[in-house]
Amino acid sequence: MRLDKLIEKELTTSRKEMKRLFVRGKVKVDGKIERSEARNVDSRLHHIEVNGRTLSTSEAYYLLNKPQGVVTANHDHQHQTVLDLLSTNDRKEKLASVGRLDRDTEGLVFLTTNGQLAYELLHPVKKVTKCYEAVVNGEVTTEDIAAFQKGIVFHGGEICQPAQLEILSATAEESRVRLMIQEGKFHQVKKMFLACGKKVVFLKRYGIGPLMLPADLTIGRYRELTVDELESLKIYFC
Ligand code: URA
Repeated sequence: MRLDKLIEKELTTSRKEMKRLFVRGKVKVDGKIERSEARNVDSRLHHIEVNGRTLSTSEAYYLLNKPQGVVTANHDHQHQTVLDLLSTNDRKEKLASVGRLDRDTEGLVFLTTNGQLAYELLHPVKKVTKCYEAVVNGEVTTEDIAAFQKGIVFHGGEICQPAQLEILSATAEESRVRLMIQEGKFHQVKKMFLACGKKVVFLKRYGIGPLMLPADLTIGRYRELTVDELESLKIYFC
């Protein structure tokens, strides 16, 4: 949560009073005077002290194993959404997914109320790695690996950044692959394979940056981030 918003909310200060606390060096994060009003903080990661008082945040962070058929949206007139999979109590205001999966893609969705964190994780400059497993019709070859490494060019001319492709199994009919991309273009993985003349018939995401799909999180279930998982995101709090 933004430090200025936290102070205004928790100490019920005016904007002017909040700013004065910063100017007077009364705002400390982990024992050090903090000057940035926009600093993203979470009391599970940071010790936040303002005018001698310790402040707490209450952001929500969930990992969800999205099933096929569910849309990554907050509302949908036709289909079940990722938010519909959460209990009413956990459906916090401002909760949103960090990036989207297609309706027919399953796997890891990260949901948070911390919009600043979501922004950082999605920012192209941050190059956050997304890991997928896919089943593709036809035989994925070492030429495809080289093309992914070089940077796929979509039909239509859009150029992708280099991506890492690993073949898990391949026959003339079907291949199983693992791939890592650092962008989030619309239908990116499907379009990358289409550019190689192949169709993705199954797609699952199992990693977003340091977050991995927990092995014991069955399809359709979710859980809160552990403290260790939250710690692994600390570099994205700025
Ligand atoms: N790439 C796709 O084509 N679909 C997804 O859902 C995610 C990445």
